[in-house]
Amino acid sequence: MDGLEVTACERCPELCESRSQIVNGDGPADAELLFVGEGPGEREDSEGEPFVGRSGTVLDDALRDSGLGREDIRITNCVRCRPPDNRDPHTDELANCREYLEREITTVNPELVVTLGKVPTEHLLGRDARVTEESGSIEEIRLDGRPQRVLVCVHPAATLYDGSQKETFSNTIATAAEIVGAGDGDGQSRLDGF
Ligand code: URA
Repeated sequence: MDGLEVTACERCPELCESRSQIVNGDGPADAELLFVGEGPGEREDSEGEPFVGRSGTVLDDALRDSGLGREDIRITNCVRCRPPDNRDPHTDELANCREYLEREITTVNPELVVTLGKVPTEHLLGRDARVTEESGSIEEIRLDGRPQRVLVCVHPAATLYDGSQKETFSNTIATAAEIVGAGDGDGQSRLDGF
């Protein structure tokens, strides 16, 4: 691994069976916003890119509404191999992939990490979370001795099952965009205000 790409890994026997390929993060290596999802789904597994299915479309729409494009952000997952039948990653699988995620975060060194859904939120914050209630809140964690701010967000797929989460999701993405000063042309971070 060069900090961002994992080219070979055999740490999780079941995921090695279920994956077609390793799905690495995508987007600029110096992005100010780094989104973290749970793990690749079927489309991601076949195309080798994160968030290219329906969840990715929901995310792209909310980014666009906030003055951002996919090219402005980096996006990755807690685990890089598709779990069988799209089940949640197991604790040992999350732990096996943690080194890659931490290395990606510290290499990109974003202003803000945005956790999409319960799994990445609990994984990075190291505690139980109620994402619907906490979406839009910011917490500071330490990675490799450095402070890193994390914005909790509901998973884009949640908006497909529960329409009431659409507003929560788009408001949280708008908060992320505002924090990095997207769309206002001055490129100044608003993070000090949070
Ligand atoms: N959901 C995720 O959490 N990650 C993806 O890459 C796609 C869907």
